[in-house]
Amino acid sequence: MASTSLPGATDKRLASLLALFANNATISISGARIAREIGVSRSTVWRWIEQLREVGVRVKGRPHTGYFLERVPDILTPELLRTKLKGSLFGKRICHFFRTDSTNRVGMELGYAGEPEGAVILAEEQSAGRGRAGRSWHSERGTGIYVTLLLRPKISPVQAPLLTMMAGLSAHAAIQARTGLQVDLKWPNDLMLNGKKLGGILTEMYSDTTLVRFVIVGIGINVNQEKFPGELSTMATSLRAETGKNESRLELLARLLREFENDYNRFLREGASSVTARFTKASSYAVGKKVRVTNGAESFTGVTAGLAPEGLLQVEREDGKIVTVIAGDVTDAR
Ligand code: BTN
Repeated sequence: MASTSLPGATDKRLASLLALFANNATISISGARIAREIGVSRSTVWRWIEQLREVGVRVKGRPHTGYFLERVPDILTPELLRTKLKGSLFGKRICHFFRTDSTNRVGMELGYAGEPEGAVILAEEQSAGRGRAGRSWHSERGTGIYVTLLLRPKISPVQAPLLTMMAGLSAHAAIQARTGLQVDLKWPNDLMLNGKKLGGILTEMYSDTTLVRFVIVGIGINVNQEKFPGELSTMATSLRAETGKNESRLELLARLLREFENDYNRFLREGASSVTARFTKASSYAVGKKVRVTNGAESFTGVTAGLAPEGLLQVEREDGKIVTVIAGDVTDAR
């Protein structure tokens, strides 16, 4: 199938320009050489360099002196990512945007257009990042990971929420491997660190009554944000805020996609229990946690009592009744 074209996606040749810079870090390359190697005019090279500077890439120099990168930028270009994903389901189609409204919106579009499983949609910045329950997702430029994966699993729609929990497990493993930090998973889709939100997952799907046609799993991780605006400042955190160190978004993302692929294959092979058993171990919210569950106007407190087979959270209310939570927000009720 021919690839669906995506308006606004980063021009492949512009990504080659970045790769050329990255491979010749700190060496000055003339505009003429860049133009020749990439196959564009010198004026296009100049325009692209201006564009890169606008998004914060520190390109030094001028057309006649040659250009060089002051620092290799942490940009998630498909070329760089692909070299780390050889042989992976997620190394085949990587769509990069410097800016888009929502990678989930793009993912849905690709899904409807028949794009095969494994497409990865990445953005340096989202202008209308989507969160759960109609909330927005703060997506500051070049600091977080904003990624959506397109999947076509042969599962029933009731099993799709397990992919959200599974993505949480993949993120948990990737963050631990890269930073040594142990994130907590708050059912169903939050990544938590020291009581603050580090990331979230938003799964959306298109399905028949019995079969999923496609699922998109959108993952947002706060990586190098130094601060958050307004009320987020007390609720959100980033890896940088916790460790004081910048983390490579590229390395973390590559690890996340590797973990995700392993977890996904295992889920398809072994079914729901491969997710629920591991989620129960990794999450302090699964069993014995006093929580408040809020769903619209309704709200109650209770103690978590494990996960039902399809991944729904069970909560024992104060009257002793066990309730299965289908949707709603779960918060600590200490
Ligand atoms: C949540 O916790 O509310 C879910 C947040 C999901 C955010 C990610 S960022 C990449 C993808 N694109 C979106 O518009 N949302 C998801």
